[in-house]
Amino acid sequence: MKLKEETTEKLQYHFPEGFWWGSSASATQTEGAADIDGKGKNIWDHWYEIEPNRFFNAVGPQDTSQFYYKYKEDIKLMKEIGHNSFRLSISWSRMFPKGKGEVNKKAVDFYNSVIDEMVETGIEPFVNLYHFDMPMALQDIGGWENRDTVDAFEGYAATCFQLFGDRVAKWFTHNEPIVPVEGGYLYNFHYPNIVDFKKAVQVGYHTILSSAKAIKKYRDMNMDGKIGIILNLTPSYPRSQNPADLKASKIADAFFNRSFLDPSVKGEFPSDLVAILKTEGFMPAMAAGDLDIIQQNTVDLLGINYYQPRRVKAKEHARNPDAPFLPELYFDHYEMPGRKMNVHRGWEIYEKGIYDILMNVKENYGNIECFISENGMGVEGEERFRDENGMIQDDYRIEFISEHLKWVHKAISEGSNVWGYHLWTFMDNWSWSNAYKNRYGFVSVNLEKDAERTVKKSGHWFKKVANMNGF
Ligand code: BG6
Repeated sequence: MKLKEETTEKLQYHFPEGFWWGSSASATQTEGAADIDGKGKNIWDHWYEIEPNRFFNAVGPQDTSQFYYKYKEDIKLMKEIGHNSFRLSISWSRMFPKGKGEVNKKAVDFYNSVIDEMVETGIEPFVNLYHFDMPMALQDIGGWENRDTVDAFEGYAATCFQLFGDRVAKWFTHNEPIVPVEGGYLYNFHYPNIVDFKKAVQVGYHTILSSAKAIKKYRDMNMDGKIGIILNLTPSYPRSQNPADLKASKIADAFFNRSFLDPSVKGEFPSDLVAILKTEGFMPAMAAGDLDIIQQNTVDLLGINYYQPRRVKAKEHARNPDAPFLPELYFDHYEMPGRKMNVHRGWEIYEKGIYDILMNVKENYGNIECFISENGMGVEGEERFRDENGMIQDDYRIEFISEHLKWVHKAISEGSNVWGYHLWTFMDNWSWSNAYKNRYGFVSVNLEKDAERTVKKSGHWFKKVANMNGF
């Protein structure tokens, strides 16, 4: 009793009962076992095969953290460090080696076992269907460029709802759907690694359509749970209050946030973005009835990934008519003097951004139920912080998380409907081009020693926070 009184008194940031404490991860980044038990190739397996040196230290997606073999140990560890929930993704090409057709029974056994283990351990599974990992067989017909992929996704989603929906009550169609558009079609960091704005728009449009169709399917199947999407939101801050800077910042917001947020939550596309696409001749091909499907099938739940803001200023140079079209033709990036950086990842750290997003969702998106589905800090060379007892003393991560949580707490006190905080990520995992360069986890993974796990100081700290529901 005494302990309880003391604890409550000391809690400056107390979170609502039922708050979701945990972390998130994705299949390709954690499972390993990329070419066994019937799994088909996805774009990452393929890209690594043809260009291994693109990946930091030439480490590929087969060498990830071995969740496929160690999930029981991992789920136990999640519980030990205070998780009441965890987000994972299903590997589409493990379930359907060719993207569609016959389901792979071994994949079904694996995900059944993972989900059962989580439920028995008392960790709610949040399951995401697409985390950047297009099956290669579908990429061969154009991936998201091809409308057939939308149908294949709908089929894959329906199979997952049917097989796992009795135990999974929180589903997500996509993680950060803008990233494959940016990476694959604009800025060269995902396969197919081309620069083509017209295709980028088509890919984005098909992704949004696939999400709405999967949501429709979920509801038509009378599933008992909620379905949402996970978006990476980058609040857009103008250099100044000058009209030209404000306008540039609003356009960047349309390209990078509202492009997916508006159709997902409001069922409509932002009119300023549509106007640009029309002027530039980039409207995607659509079929009759698509817009009704998008309009009628908005999300129940919004996952928000937040890492960094976007600082924007008006364009300072005239447009080069020969340059390929990029959103940056409408604004310039602005390197604000004195901004705080995570030098390892090259991303700005601006904690208040998380609050600004939540207030924007509250005020302009009907205060839809949401949670922080990713936030985190990737750090290179964490081994140097390992102490004589073998624990990585990652105080910087504790500070990073707590500073963001303070702003989440403030948003709650001002009426935000935010229900959780998931760190990216549970254990150090493989990243899309940086492989194991930057480490993000509560738990370290020793690749030289059979992917041995050790809880970092932040994991022990998080356990207390989650157990006390605050700090
Ligand atoms: C998010 C993704 O964008 O950021 C994760 O959902 C990713 O898949 C994470 O790993 C961190 O980014 P990176 O590139 O440092 O791994």
